[in-house]
Amino acid sequence: MEKSPVTLLGLGAMGSALATALIQRGHVVTVWNRSPGKIEPLVAQGARHAKSVAAAVEASPVVVVCVLDYSAVLSMLAEAAPALAGRVVVNLTNGTPRQVREASEWVAHQGAEYVDGAIMAVPPMIGGPDALVLYSGSEKGFEAHRATLEVFGTSRFLGLDAALAAVHDLALLGGMYGMFAGFLHATALAGTVNVRAMDFVELLVPWLRSMAATLPGLARQVDARDYTIDVVSNLRMQVVAFDHILAASREQGVDPKLLEPLHALFRQRLAAGHPDEDVSGAIELIRPPASDAELVRS
Ligand SMILES: NC(=O)c1ccc[n+]([C@@H]2O[C@H](COP(=O)([O-])OP(=O)(O)OC[C@H]3O[C@@H](n4cnc5c(N)ncnc54)[C@H](OP(=O)(O)O)[C@@H]3O)[C@@H](O)[C@H]2O)c1
Repeated sequence: MEKSPVTLLGLGAMGSALATALIQRGHVVTVWNRSPGKIEPLVAQGARHAKSVAAAVEASPVVVVCVLDYSAVLSMLAEAAPALAGRVVVNLTNGTPRQVREASEWVAHQGAEYVDGAIMAVPPMIGGPDALVLYSGSEKGFEAHRATLEVFGTSRFLGLDAALAAVHDLALLGGMYGMFAGFLHATALAGTVNVRAMDFVELLVPWLRSMAATLPGLARQVDARDYTIDVVSNLRMQVVAFDHILAASREQGVDPKLLEPLHALFRQRLAAGHPDEDVSGAIELIRPPASDAELVRS
């Protein structure tokens, strides 16, 4: 099958990796970047340099955008607005659901298909099977260029609401930052008895892996809104252990501020009369009230 020409707007660390993967797989790639310094290495690999955003957009049926934020996305695309009609815009820039929906509407208004994407990988992973890219928005646009997008890694289309990819992306990143908070606190505490971080991670990584294996059980409770299903570590016991973590941290001179908000949430749920639940019940204190549709579903 003939390979589609592709335009790449934005040649930062990620945009350059995307462009390189496309060139290596035989696509004709036209590139544009605000600062010219990042263009030359791609041209040396075989990319075509467009002199303007509009010229770049005109060069290909699919335009991949990967820049810092949505104000950059919109200001760039606005320069090429008349050229967008009939093309597919695949925006791989990280943003919020509102930003995605606004961009989606604006692009559709120009007569183009809008596909939003979230890259769950770092640049060196691009082009390999471990790079996961989530997509949502125009299914027509996604299907038309699925083969091209598969060059970046494994792709998964989540649905027609353009914001789906961004919400999944930010939710996954939120899980990751929670893990980083745990890592920082745990490593600081272990460090007070002269344990090097590199030695401590030998215990921490397998521990976190085995604890991650308990998440499907918590997920089942969340979906059922019944936090007492198959509880093996009840909230009353866990709060006592959590009290000890904070007390020990203070004794050892570690500021427990990364864990205090979670501890407070668990205590609040316990005080509300849920000693026999799992920790999953605390989600009731942070998520929005269930909509009628969700109540019907559950
Ligand atoms: N790097 C990662 O590990 C990673 C992983 C997953 C997703 N992402 C996402 O990929 C996107 C790009 O990240 P990156 O790592 O490539 O960032 P980066 O290396 O900092 O590059 C940022 C890019 O945005 C451009 N840019 C910034 N402001 C602009 C403006 N006002 N107008 C036009 N272009 C502008 C920059 O152009 P100049 O060269 O002219 O400054 C550059 O091309 C982000 O949304 C990021 O969240 C990155």
